[in-house]
Amino acid sequence: MGYNVAIDGPAGAGKSTIAKLVAKQKGYIYVDTGAMYRAMAVYFLDCGILPQEIEKIRKAAKEARVGIEYEDGMQQVYLNGENVTAKLREEAVGNMASVSSAVPEVRARLLDLQRNLASEKDVIMDGRDIGTNVLPDADVKIYLTASVETRAKRRFDELTEKGIFCQFDEVARDIQKRDERDMNRKTAPLKQAEDAILVDSSDMTVDEVVAVICSYCK
Ligand code: DC
Repeated sequence: MGYNVAIDGPAGAGKSTIAKLVAKQKGYIYVDTGAMYRAMAVYFLDCGILPQEIEKIRKAAKEARVGIEYEDGMQQVYLNGENVTAKLREEAVGNMASVSSAVPEVRARLLDLQRNLASEKDVIMDGRDIGTNVLPDADVKIYLTASVETRAKRRFDELTEKGIFCQFDEVARDIQKRDERDMNRKTAPLKQAEDAILVDSSDMTVDEVVAVICSYCK
């Protein structure tokens, strides 16, 4: 059994940035489960399915095969044999993933993959339901959050830096909508596990957050 660290939290809390740095310091493999939901979303979009077409998503989920490989320590995500890693951060993919990840058939396709990775290796795995559902016996559980304003500011800066024009208010609204969907869905909603450590990064630097989380890990 690998040593397992679960990091859950809302969109934009900095989970992937922090988890990558903790993984480096501690020698764990970083598993980004959001990327797996995004790969499923790429498949639905490639099939011409719209986010509101839930029945089609349900059916198509059975045809999508997501695989994970590690190349130079970086997670590469394969969809039906094709490396789709470069497509995963697109806005349309994120929007589809936010809706399609609520569909039980989609979640069922990814659960074994996530559990198998954690059983074989020392991992830090980030997502929404890792501590509550995927790895309920994880050695360390962290619930990483930050205020909506802080998360929207980080996302706004990230997009602006990439040269993508956006309005701060729209980015904040989008974050709130994602929170609502992630927290209120029936299957595996985002919530803090009872035994998770709450870390609010609103007024913390990246280094501070990494140090706090590393202090709980072996
Ligand atoms: O963390 P992210 O933005 O890459 O995740 C993309 C979507 O997938 C997000 O809307 C929530 C969903 N997700 C999930 O439901 N469960 C997970 N374990 C990880 C992500």
